[in-house]
Amino acid sequence: MWTAKRLAKAYLDFFKENGHAIIPSASLIPEHDPTVLFTAAGMHPLVPYLLGQQHPEGKRLANNQKCIRTGDIDEVGDQSHLTFFFMLGNWSLGDYFKKKAIEWSYEFLTSKKWLGLNKEKISVTCFAGDKDAPKDEESANVWLSLGISSEKIFFFEKKDNWWGPAGKTGPCGPDTEIFYDTGKKACGKECKPGCNCGKFFEIWNDVFMQYNKTAEGKFEKLKQMNVDTGMGVERTVAMLQGKRNVYETEMFLPLMEKIKQLAREFNEKSAHIIADHIRAVVFVLSEGKGIVPSNIEQGYVLRRLIRRAVRHGRLLGIEGSFCREIAKKVVEIYGDEWPELKKNSVAIFKEIEAEEEKFAKVLGQGVKMFKKIFKKHGKISANDAFLLYQSYGFPLEMTVEMAKEKGLEVDKQAFQKEFEKHQALSRKSTTGKFKSGLADHSEIALRMHTATHLLHAALRKVLGEHVQQKGSNITPERLRFDFSNPEKVSKEQLEEVEKIVNNAIDAKISVQRKEMSLDQAKKKGALAFFDAKYAPEKVSVYTIGDVSKEVCAGPHVKNTGEIGKFKIKKEESVSAGVRRIKAVLE
Ligand code: SER
Repeated sequence: MWTAKRLAKAYLDFFKENGHAIIPSASLIPEHDPTVLFTAAGMHPLVPYLLGQQHPEGKRLANNQKCIRTGDIDEVGDQSHLTFFFMLGNWSLGDYFKKKAIEWSYEFLTSKKWLGLNKEKISVTCFAGDKDAPKDEESANVWLSLGISSEKIFFFEKKDNWWGPAGKTGPCGPDTEIFYDTGKKACGKECKPGCNCGKFFEIWNDVFMQYNKTAEGKFEKLKQMNVDTGMGVERTVAMLQGKRNVYETEMFLPLMEKIKQLAREFNEKSAHIIADHIRAVVFVLSEGKGIVPSNIEQGYVLRRLIRRAVRHGRLLGIEGSFCREIAKKVVEIYGDEWPELKKNSVAIFKEIEAEEEKFAKVLGQGVKMFKKIFKKHGKISANDAFLLYQSYGFPLEMTVEMAKEKGLEVDKQAFQKEFEKHQALSRKSTTGKFKSGLADHSEIALRMHTATHLLHAALRKVLGEHVQQKGSNITPERLRFDFSNPEKVSKEQLEEVEKIVNNAIDAKISVQRKEMSLDQAKKKGALAFFDAKYAPEKVSVYTIGDVSKEVCAGPHVKNTGEIGKFKIKKEESVSAGVRRIKAVLE
């Protein structure tokens, strides 16, 4: 049987045989990209290399990448959308291009030695061309040469056959998507690859990243022609096993069984949502990056996922805390392959449970308020429902349900209007946040990133060598750095740290990059706080004079003189033993 493990192994073996270095999955939290909250595709952490920087592992890479896409949280629960998923991918960084990429995809899918899929059932789509880029005849010709007949090659516009950039700007390009006919009856005459009736299953996407989208919306030719491919593991496994959906595969079955055991009134959709959301939360928390449920950024996504899971638990008639039970199963299923799940399980369970309890209180308050309103007015208006939602975080579905028990209806459309008004306002404020129009790897991100290394080194000098980076995040306005330290950092210590960083900046030290093995790097005293098991064969070491030496994927400024004045704005606690510094460059 094609289990997820077997599929990933076959995929990585195949590309290894074809000269690719297998690199570890990058973190779910992008460290140097201020424009996105989560790593949404395998190409994402590779952006600097797609733009031309040399990768220490060479020009051919492949991996199994953990991804999170939050764009369609509300669609999760159907048969295919997942918040968190694994994606197999192979990359050419200015090496092979369309011909080889397509040939290898086809060989892996159809060769008896590999997946052995029926060639007759394969159809493909290519980019139709527009003002930004020409029609992709080149890919279509490769498909023809492999024996895919022209009736099985479809051309679509950017909406369907273009991928990227992952953020607002960056590498992107036309793609060719590979579909497998599941044998289901066509939904009509117009049914073709891309139709979502379930007949055509998208297995793989080969993206040809040869453009850079600029902040002005222009598509400029990149220095090099890249390939970026992606195959969603869960979906492909479900297809290979002939399952109706991903939740019926070994990746989810134990979760579904547990939920069934706990539920009093089972419904599939709620069970799917709980399984997906808790799995995502466990993986984010397992990285120990100091991200916990909160009202901002990644923390807010965690909060939303946990709360949505709890709410669906209530819909299944589960009273009291249950998320820990589900999280435990996630650790059981994935813990061998992803040891950080086991290693951090205590903290994972604690955070999930704490948020679940907080939300239980919210629900309690909401119910009380609901009753009060009902007693006073004998009804629940859309405005009441919105107030309950906004002030108590009380979900609309709960209000609707409780109203229904009283024989009342809530005007959902009117609620939606209130909601949209509110969303429009908050969207406006987030666009404001990035009004400087910064690109992903823009200059300020580089400067902040190098400043982060100086900060790390300075903290170790002032506080001691127990200080280790726990996480870092950069936005156009500030840098954020989490690190281990048992207690508050005093004002004097912060001043000292700031001085050391600014001295290094004033000294205009050049930043040097060297490639070596992780062992060598450690011998040379480079900081590297990740599990050696995940380390690639060669790593980049960035050295800043005798101030800092760290293993890091880059990119950095060339000289510390470019950084500007460094100022610490805040020092606070994140969790037990982890502190956070926010700083700006002036
Ligand atoms: N980035 C592309 C995708 O996510 C291919 O990996 O589909």
